[in-house]
Amino acid sequence: MRVVVVLAHPNRSSLNHAIADRAITSLHQNGHDVIFHDLYAENFDPILPANEMMSGDFVDPQIRNYGDEIANADGIVVVHPIWWGGMPAILKGWIDRVFRPGCVYAFEEVEGGIGVPVGMLKARKIAIFNTENTPLEMSEEMYGDPLDSIWKKNVFGVCGGRDVFRRVFHGVIMSEDLERKAWLAEVEDHINEFFPAAGMSQAA
Ligand SMILES: Cc1cc2nc3c(=O)[nH]c(=O)nc-3n(C[C@H](O)[C@H](O)[C@H](O)COP(=O)(O)O)c2cc1C
Repeated sequence: MRVVVVLAHPNRSSLNHAIADRAITSLHQNGHDVIFHDLYAENFDPILPANEMMSGDFVDPQIRNYGDEIANADGIVVVHPIWWGGMPAILKGWIDRVFRPGCVYAFEEVEGGIGVPVGMLKARKIAIFNTENTPLEMSEEMYGDPLDSIWKKNVFGVCGGRDVFRRVFHGVIMSEDLERKAWLAEVEDHINEFFPAAGMSQAA
């Protein structure tokens, strides 16, 4: 499988980087090809310019390249911290600019005069790993998890990724080394289950 891994975190020594590293190592161990995008390291420009927004096609060849990669990937892994209940701006901008109609979805059907998006992603399997400082119980009680719906419905639901796995690691700021090691082992287990080695896979 060809799996695109996207990371949005500015700090190389963060838990998010460790999660991405572990996911990539596990994917390689399972024989998959990995295309890795560390959006901060790539200095990705998240601002969708007017001419690009108005165009029915990609304007910038770099953005077209991101689009082609994501449209043709067999699997996608996204790693990011939760910031203000959502995703970092750099990642939101990456979706704004890369997840374009005609590339990852199309309005092919019309229901009552309104276009219904039809997903074009080849990838059926998508894994999302998130971190936040709020402990689980407090997070559930105070905020809920609107990001779950955004990833599963607004983004990948629209674009055709049906099998979306998401894991949020809570209470990062209070966590100790042992717990972080267990989280990274969990990442590896999820990757092995979701993107097994060829011959180990169940019917897609
Ligand atoms: C701009 C910003 C916004 C944040 N918003 C939240 C938040 O809404 N909820 C929360 O629990 N933690 C929030 N945090 C804390 C991060 O989620 C936390 O630092 C990160 O998940 C820890 O992982 P790391 O070690 O990889 O950075 C925020 C941090 C920053 C810098």
